[in-house]
Amino acid sequence: MKVIAVANQKGGCAKTTTVVNLAAGLALRDFSVLVIDLDSQANATNWLAGSVSTPGSWQMLTTREDLASLIVPSSVSGVSLLAGSRELANLEKALAGELSVETLLKRRLAKLGKEAFDYVLIDTPPTLGLITLNALSAAQQLLIPLTTHVMSLSGVAQMFRTVDQVREVLNPDLNILGLVASRVDLRTRHAKDVLSTLSERFGDKLLKSYVYENVRLAEAPSFQQSILTYNPLSTAAQNYRDLADEVVALTSSFN
Ligand SMILES: Nc1ncnc2c1ncn2[C@@H]1O[C@H](COP(=O)(O)OP(=O)(O)OP(=O)(O)O)[C@@H](O)[C@H]1O
Ligand SMILES: [Mg+2]
Repeated sequence: MKVIAVANQKGGCAKTTTVVNLAAGLALRDFSVLVIDLDSQANATNWLAGSVSTPGSWQMLTTREDLASLIVPSSVSGVSLLAGSRELANLEKALAGELSVETLLKRRLAKLGKEAFDYVLIDTPPTLGLITLNALSAAQQLLIPLTTHVMSLSGVAQMFRTVDQVREVLNPDLNILGLVASRVDLRTRHAKDVLSTLSERFGDKLLKSYVYENVRLAEAPSFQQSILTYNPLSTAAQNYRDLADEVVALTSSFN
């Protein structure tokens, strides 16, 4: 089971869009995928399943309920879901007094067994709080989506500092799978400049599969479909199929 956290404390940089469409891309290649929505906004949950009555992630983190019973199917074939819900905003309070709260998700996921899913993708909120730390502790891999604006660069630097701290204290094995440039608009000089800065600074950690700005991606959630079925011939669908193939290749040596 390959566990990938999708995180960046910057809001609106395509974390959820990456999680949902990468999950669909991996499922298209016949991998079984679990999406864990750790965001109290529950955007991935609404996209993948509309309204879900089981607040799966919340119950996983705050009760001893059997984990398998909290997982629900999604509208994307091959993709299962631990749903996000509003309560997640209160997680720190709910866990006050418990020990090692940063590794709760890791310990709960271990109960699923290594073979339960091929890939687990974790969607995180736009903060570096307890929830994102849980995701970084539970994951072997971190995927960082970012938009091609100059402001993104300082955000990524902060993310890398957090990864260093997490490696030191919580999860020495955390690997940065890569940065995925999203909402790329190559008609602007600015986007090209930011891409070349990213490439200079991060070398091959900048993934080859860019995701271009495409309005179809913003429309797809209303239809509870990934871009791969909502508009399979779009550039965006091709971008996410390519991203899935790149992720498969990069993670083939990890278990
Ligand atoms: N390639 C793209 N082209 C056009 N719109 C996009 C693209 N990727 C994402 N979007 C839109 O950008 C907005 C932010 O995307 P998304 O919700 O995935 O970001 P996020 O990082 O999960 O946000 P948050 O930090 O609030 O969780 C959404 O409205 C989404 O539809
Ligand atoms: Mg999101």
